[in-house]
Amino acid sequence: MGKPWKTIILAGGTGSRLYPLTHAVNKHLLPIYDKPMIYYPLGIMMLGGLRDFIIISSPSDLPQLEKLLGDGRKWGIDFTYLPQENPGGIAQCFEIAKNEIKDSNVALILGDNIFYGAGLPERISEAINNGGATIFGYEVADPGAFGVVTMDANDRPIKLEEKPENPKSNLAVPGLYFYDDKVLDIARAQKPSARGELEITDVNKAYLALGKLHVGQLSRGTAWLDGGSHASLYEAGQFIKVVEERTGLKIACPEEIAYRKGFISKEEFKTLIDEGLDTQYQRYLRRIAKEIG
Ligand code: G1P
Repeated sequence: MGKPWKTIILAGGTGSRLYPLTHAVNKHLLPIYDKPMIYYPLGIMMLGGLRDFIIISSPSDLPQLEKLLGDGRKWGIDFTYLPQENPGGIAQCFEIAKNEIKDSNVALILGDNIFYGAGLPERISEAINNGGATIFGYEVADPGAFGVVTMDANDRPIKLEEKPENPKSNLAVPGLYFYDDKVLDIARAQKPSARGELEITDVNKAYLALGKLHVGQLSRGTAWLDGGSHASLYEAGQFIKVVEERTGLKIACPEEIAYRKGFISKEEFKTLIDEGLDTQYQRYLRRIAKEIG
């Protein structure tokens, strides 16, 4: 048996690019069409079979996130909430969660990253079984806005750069990472970057130097969106709306995923339906309940 997995959802930061939307509300609570943003990273990790979550955010925003998500029991999962006192970069999350992750592998997803597409749960299962660290490459038009990975002719990673001025490849690194139980020590060995942050790219570089970095490919058929700017927030909402209306199925509905993954029983799923509420979301849950009989 391998070590258990803990999954960090990073929901911190000031969201300054989204001001004034984020002046009084945490970015990860903003709507992506019909659900709060954080449902999407949560949903994809649940689909990958992960159940033990650590939510990291500022002390002032944690109560609202906790009000939304609770302790997770009703969805057959577990949430622990940890405060990030001073935003100091993505890689700070390991130190913040040190007591929770000390004997675990660690998955990390950024709370504003939205993934959609066939094959993603399989990519996550592979990452869980790889050992070392696993990141992904995703072809984008503007790689300079992201971490960028360069591969050699044999599809092995040779270089990682954070927001390079002259990217060597078009492969951006999405905010979805999988690490073995050495990640805390590796993160502790890193120094803050020029922008004063502990960079997740430096942690990945350390795994690369050890020869323990796997880079999975997210195919062209996968959508990777984020809600980090006004335009991307709006576009992500439109994307979800188009797919949901066409299919009649909801993306990142935790109640449905919990049932379909077997985290909760049919009976437990039915207790999640609020018969007193006639909202579009409740009607959807009632429809699913009817279908599963
Ligand atoms: C962060 C990471 C970057 C990654 C991106 C994905 O950038 O530093 O490597 O590609 O998330 O969303 P940020 O958006 O925090 O500047």
